[in-house]
Amino acid sequence: MEVVIRSSTVEVDRTVADIVENVVRSKPAVLGLATGSSPVGAYAELARRHREDGLSFAQCRAFLLDEYIGIPRTADQSYFSFIRSEFVDLVNLPDVAVFSPDGEAPDIEAEAHRYDRAIMESGGVDVQILGIGTDGHIGFNEPGSSLQSRTRVKTLTEQTRRDNARFFASEDEVPHHVLTQGLGTIGEARHLVLIATGESKAEAVAAAVEGPLSAFCPASAIQWHPHVSVILDETAASALTLADYYRYAYANKPSWQRP
Ligand code: GLP
Repeated sequence: MEVVIRSSTVEVDRTVADIVENVVRSKPAVLGLATGSSPVGAYAELARRHREDGLSFAQCRAFLLDEYIGIPRTADQSYFSFIRSEFVDLVNLPDVAVFSPDGEAPDIEAEAHRYDRAIMESGGVDVQILGIGTDGHIGFNEPGSSLQSRTRVKTLTEQTRRDNARFFASEDEVPHHVLTQGLGTIGEARHLVLIATGESKAEAVAAAVEGPLSAFCPASAIQWHPHVSVILDETAASALTLADYYRYAYANKPSWQRP
């Protein structure tokens, strides 16, 4: 696991964009896209590189991590709409190549299995962008999520519903249930890139990176993965015990080492 501590959110966004660009330029990449605020700056930076440097997503496919149950895809709050307005519509990634779990499917369990299979049949995700919830969730895998879980229905914690209320007219409108890739599903991506900025994420980041591998902090499942980048600003890194070591390791990173 590589922990990269950057001096500003602009630097965080650039570092994440560098990782994604590297994969997109090397192959017809399968991207794992996260929603929420954390990756929005990196998506904007990738869109800028598309406009100004000709970075093309025409050969890419993309899979979203999760979706609310019971929110129409056409609503602004759906992750289906969010990823289009924040990324897909700003680049040349074909809309038909962007996949997400259908939170309106009549048989939600069958939809979960279908989505998991679709990811596998695509050949798997090359680079998976992740945010982290203040309770340590990734995707919508709330505390207690099995470390080997597959795409399935989860119930949101009250903390997550409060955190996400800013995207809705009121907290009451935040759904209680979601469809999310499981921790086992996410762990099959070839490279995990976790982004966190801001003081409110510091405790969750410390638990994920330096705490025990535990379903209590679902993001700690990244410790089990062979290729992980954790990209933080100073405030999100502020509770890390080994912050100085991570800075030192990154500053002295050999040129041959993979990004
Ligand atoms: C949301 C999403 C996650 C996201 C996390 C943090 O509920 N399901 O994929 O990473 O919570 O969100 P934010 O980046 O807005 O802080």
